[in-house]
Amino acid sequence: MKLTVLLILIAVLLLGYSCQSPSGNKPLESAEQELLAKIGDSIIGRASGRLMKAVSSAIDSAGHEGAVYYCAGHAAGLTQLGLAPGWQLGRISLRNRNPGNKAGNADAHILKDMAKQGGAKTAVHRVVQDTVHYYKPIVLAAACLACHGNPDQVAPKVAAAIKERYPHDQALGYKEGDMRGAWKLSVLRETLVNLHSK
Ligand code: HEC
Repeated sequence: MKLTVLLILIAVLLLGYSCQSPSGNKPLESAEQELLAKIGDSIIGRASGRLMKAVSSAIDSAGHEGAVYYCAGHAAGLTQLGLAPGWQLGRISLRNRNPGNKAGNADAHILKDMAKQGGAKTAVHRVVQDTVHYYKPIVLAAACLACHGNPDQVAPKVAAAIKERYPHDQALGYKEGDMRGAWKLSVLRETLVNLHSK
């Protein structure tokens, strides 16, 4: 009797797994990859331009320390602005400033791999069940170091604002050219495939 129950249990488990696998993490076809890169780069390019513009005008009007507070209130919202329904965009980092941008385990692997491959230029994607994630590296320019550089590059007032707003900040001490993190764009594969077939 016990054996029967056990066998049924095993059968159910096996069935469950075998049902999952066909839809599993099926790789993207090359046309889908191209489309993802094209749309991804365009969405990320727009978001990045918008963020840069907003931060530099905040710096002009309120200095770097004022811009830290500005970013604290607006960066995440500006990133998401104008996205079509079903698309999600964010920034992730291994050494995050905003705790909401901390890379989870799977994303951390991706970031480490990107950094190893000379980081910077390459975008990658990952299929997880029914969702596609597109990652594009974010590299630091000289102008970023006023808020992400070494203590001699970050003015004391700016460092104080960062400390006040982000007590667990890990995003100082970078150099120009370092990979700071990545943009992460996510969408249901179905949404991408539908665009592809149009
Ligand atoms: C005025 C100061 C300032 C400047 C200049 C600045 N940043 Fe930041 N950065 C911040 C703040 C503050 C946050 C946290 C924003 C939030 O709360 O979402 C942040 C967050 C980030 C994040 C998201 C990951 C995380 O750690 O939360 C990335 C990536 C990033 N910055 C890259 C850059 C790059 C690249 C540049 C230059 C092009 C730059 N930053 C210039 C202040 C600055």
